[in-house]
Amino acid sequence: MFLSASVVLLCMASAIQGLNLEAAMETPCFNISNNPAPLFNMEWAVSLGTVYYPIMNNIDLYRAATDLLQKQPNEIKTGSVYYDSCLTWHMFKDGTLLSKGFNGLTREYKSRPMEGNPDGYVFWPSDGTDVYSGSAYTTMTDNKTFFFSALCLKNGGMAWGVGSATPTLSEETKKKILEHAESLGFKKEHFTELRYDNCKISA
Ligand SMILES: *[C@@H]1O[C@H](CO)[C@@H](O)[C@H](O)[C@H]1NC(C)=O
Ligand SMILES: *[C@@H]1O[C@H](CO)[C@@H](O)[C@H](O)[C@H]1NC(C)=O
Repeated sequence: MFLSASVVLLCMASAIQGLNLEAAMETPCFNISNNPAPLFNMEWAVSLGTVYYPIMNNIDLYRAATDLLQKQPNEIKTGSVYYDSCLTWHMFKDGTLLSKGFNGLTREYKSRPMEGNPDGYVFWPSDGTDVYSGSAYTTMTDNKTFFFSALCLKNGGMAWGVGSATPTLSEETKKKILEHAESLGFKKEHFTELRYDNCKISA
């Protein structure tokens, strides 16, 4: 009884604390090897309109949310990222990426294909800052429901995130994704998920 009460208190305390980027860090950036043949159909991702972001590692979520809110990480309550962000992405033919969330905020990024890796691109905020910028490599996809990107963030070491056609993924797909993340060296303790149950998403 006493134990569970203190666990609840602990969870509540961490939900109102600011984002802890240091605790969320994974390994320093490493190069993702080229896929022997292109894996990813970018046109499919562009055709989705809204790309959901249901599963990722903490650092990717924290960086994306921090950049969207345009605040310092310690000013952002961890709980607000999970419960209020409703983060989604839009990808455009010309390489523009748009993040949306927190009740109508948007943030625009530019991207360009990476030399020598057909599944890689480099991205940066259109205004030239670099809170959330780096290289992204699609390392797993079915071209139908989801794509997994490993990222080397300019200021944050390795990150990963999944773009999805739907707000939730099947248990089977999730299992495959988590196994893939672990095989790349990402840690289980940094896996995290966003829920869209209480989100109003407009196309
Ligand atoms: C990654 O590859 C680039 C280009 O080949 C090289 O310049 C860089 O040093 C490599 N980085 C790491 C961490 O191995
Ligand atoms: C996805 O689409 C790309 C480009 O059309 C193709 O090269 C690749 O084989 C497809 N991957 C899968 C897993 O279907």
